[in-house]
Amino acid sequence: MSASRSMTCLRQQVRLARSALPHLHARAQSVRVPLSAGVPITYPRQLSTSSYLLSSDKKDKATYKGKDSGRPQGAHPTKHEARPVSSGEPVAEHVKEDESKRAGLPEEPLEGPPPRHSEPDAYHDGTTAAPLAGLAAPDLFSLKNRTIMITGGGRGLGLTVAHALLEAGASVACMDLLPEPSQPQWSKAEELAKSKGLKITYHPLDVTDQNAVSKLFAELFEADSDDQPIRGLFTSAGIQIMMPAVDYSTDKFRKVIDVDLTGTFLCAQAFAKEWFKRHPTMDGQAGVGGASIAMTGSMSGHIANLGIECAAYNASKAGVNQLAKNLALEWSRKGIRVNTLSPGYIRTALTAAQLDEKPELNEIWLKGSLLGRLSTPDEFRGPVLYLLSDASSFMTGADLLVDGGHCAT
Ligand SMILES: NC(=O)c1ccc[n+]([C@@H]2O[C@H](COP(=O)([O-])OP(=O)(O)OC[C@H]3O[C@@H](n4cnc5c(N)ncnc54)[C@H](O)[C@@H]3O)[C@@H](O)[C@H]2O)c1
Repeated sequence: MSASRSMTCLRQQVRLARSALPHLHARAQSVRVPLSAGVPITYPRQLSTSSYLLSSDKKDKATYKGKDSGRPQGAHPTKHEARPVSSGEPVAEHVKEDESKRAGLPEEPLEGPPPRHSEPDAYHDGTTAAPLAGLAAPDLFSLKNRTIMITGGGRGLGLTVAHALLEAGASVACMDLLPEPSQPQWSKAEELAKSKGLKITYHPLDVTDQNAVSKLFAELFEADSDDQPIRGLFTSAGIQIMMPAVDYSTDKFRKVIDVDLTGTFLCAQAFAKEWFKRHPTMDGQAGVGGASIAMTGSMSGHIANLGIECAAYNASKAGVNQLAKNLALEWSRKGIRVNTLSPGYIRTALTAAQLDEKPELNEIWLKGSLLGRLSTPDEFRGPVLYLLSDASSFMTGADLLVDGGHCAT
């Protein structure tokens, strides 16, 4: 960008900020910011990237106001309404919590069972304790009295998560392209389910086949029981093709997008259709009585991986992250929370194939890990339990990055 264009943009930002925050503008300090072309300009402090608002009173400390505080308000007029700052005092020091308005804290145990999803949203008016308030912390992660569907549940991450869900009290329906699930893990899962009086079932499925997906999801929802209704979906089916971008055939590129992104979408869509048929009035209650979809994205949806060429995979995973945000926007008020899990490198059959093809990858990948190691599938049991359970009741449209610190550098 040329220096004169930079100046014009900055002037526009300053004008917007002045019109949106006149009271702040009057008090704002200024800093001098050198442009790359060497022409210094005066720049109001509330537009700086640090997002700190400084009071003109020298005694005041800087108060962190969040990363949007300094934005020109005109950019998002509805979302970022201008808010008066009355005193300039640090908020945490002068606003004391009003004890009479506290609700839903652990010291207020819930009387009776949590409201069913069909009941009115009583706790929002402050007269009733919040539905999770009476649960001890470990119970927040319980998946009792529900069934969870898993794509890619025939092996790897999906099957490991299936074990964890059984341990947390859920019945599980696993779907996968494999005609049979991997042994001996599957037999162990069956034994575990039996010992706990739960069910684990296996259903061969190609997630890219919309008719097959719709049919199977309809059948599974039809067959679920009142004491263990379907309330969650974990999508783990995925493929990876390593190949220089210039060598991709259209078929290969489409295949990856088809399984990883379109397949994820088709399963989420089939889940939502069945859910909405059975739960037509769930406005605002996705967090407690509702359902949760956790989609497996990847840290590769955020970064390009050193050492491997996998443009299609990374594009598909970035697509999964964005897909989840959009589905969350459409479905969260109708009872379904949607989030993504973005794992770093996991030792599974998928990465074993990559390491066989290129053994030097191991060292390259380890260098990127702040923990100095790759992960194992069991390390994602906690994150997935969190996403599928009521522990994450206020989380939707978000990504849970569990990558051993890879993306931090
Ligand atoms: N292994 C890693 O390092 C890593 C890292 C980040 C994200 N992930 C993601 O985690 C998920 C699980 O991967 P994994 O490492 O367990 O690999 P995996 O190959 O062991 O498991 C993937 C499963 O998806 C199934 N599958 C493939 N195509 C399918 C289709 N068309 N329909 C239905 N099922 C299909 C496979 O049969 C397999 O059982 C994938 O989405 C993967 O992209 C893996």
